Amino acid sequence: MAGKRGPKLISGTQLSAEIREELKVEIATLKKKKITPGLAVVLVGSDPASEVYVRSKRKTCADLGINSYAHDLPVTCTERKLLDLITKLNDDKKVHGILVQVPLPKHINEQKILNAIDPYKDVDGFHPMNVGRLLNGEECFVSCTPAGCQEMLMRSGYNPAGKHVVVLGRSNIVGKPIAALLMQKGMGGDATVTVCHSRTKNLSSITKQADILIAAIGIPEFVKARMVKDGVVVIDVGVNRIEDKTRKSGTRLVGDVDFKGVSKKARAISPVPGGVGPMTITMLMKNTVKAVRRAKK
Ligand code: GUN
Repeated sequence: MAGKRGPKLISGTQLSAEIREELKVEIATLKKKKITPGLAVVLVGSDPASEVYVRSKRKTCADLGINSYAHDLPVTCTERKLLDLITKLNDDKKVHGILVQVPLPKHINEQKILNAIDPYKDVDGFHPMNVGRLLNGEECFVSCTPAGCQEMLMRSGYNPAGKHVVVLGRSNIVGKPIAALLMQKGMGGDATVTVCHSRTKNLSSITKQADILIAAIGIPEFVKARMVKDGVVVIDVGVNRIEDKTRKSGTRLVGDVDFKGVSKKARAISPVPGGVGPMTITMLMKNTVKAVRRAKK
């Protein structure tokens, strides 16, 4: 089904560039009204992966003309101190969006922190109000990775309406919200969604039914060619660093999908890197611009 030249590549890098151009136009219009979108990016500790993500988020803000306010706190930061910072950011008119990079250190209650963010500044869409509104089909902030996956499908011509979408993974950040988003009534939704996870029995019998497969289970190259049908469209959310002695660094990034094997059967597939990753950051920028519109007057 992939055809002689292989499947179509769903490039998050390319689609992101397209969306970022659209955002630049919106940001220029806001600037004419003397408004510059502002995003507070909070990092606690020095988890290497989180540091890479946060650097990339701040750089993208700078590229697009969004003000980013960096708050780097030591790993010893108390829950109280972090809550106080959030209160300050909630009240700061220059800050339209607040992002607290997760995971947080173990001594901090993550949900308590996310719940403290003003839901109208919650550009990550992690606050229970936004999660609930997503389920209800109401206007809200949709978390960035699910929103990015949906955009990738829509902008590449793979409307999920009426399709069987199989989601691998049930995390609060990806699996659950993407299922809610794609089963929603209306544009970008209307899919029949099945969510599979580590306790699912006969997993392959379900993944083989997928018209669209979204892999977000965090296991390197878990999805093999024998687990999918011919003509499947695959979105790979996984970001896993594995050993590779042929590389100078000694490692390389792979997704949750065996890209080479699955490419032989897929109609279209997103790569890692260059797939969902850049789209997640682009959706964060889009939500920050949206936060300006949603800001309490
Ligand atoms: N950690 C992994 N993904 C994300 C994300 O989308 N937002 C935040 N805040 N933290 C993350």
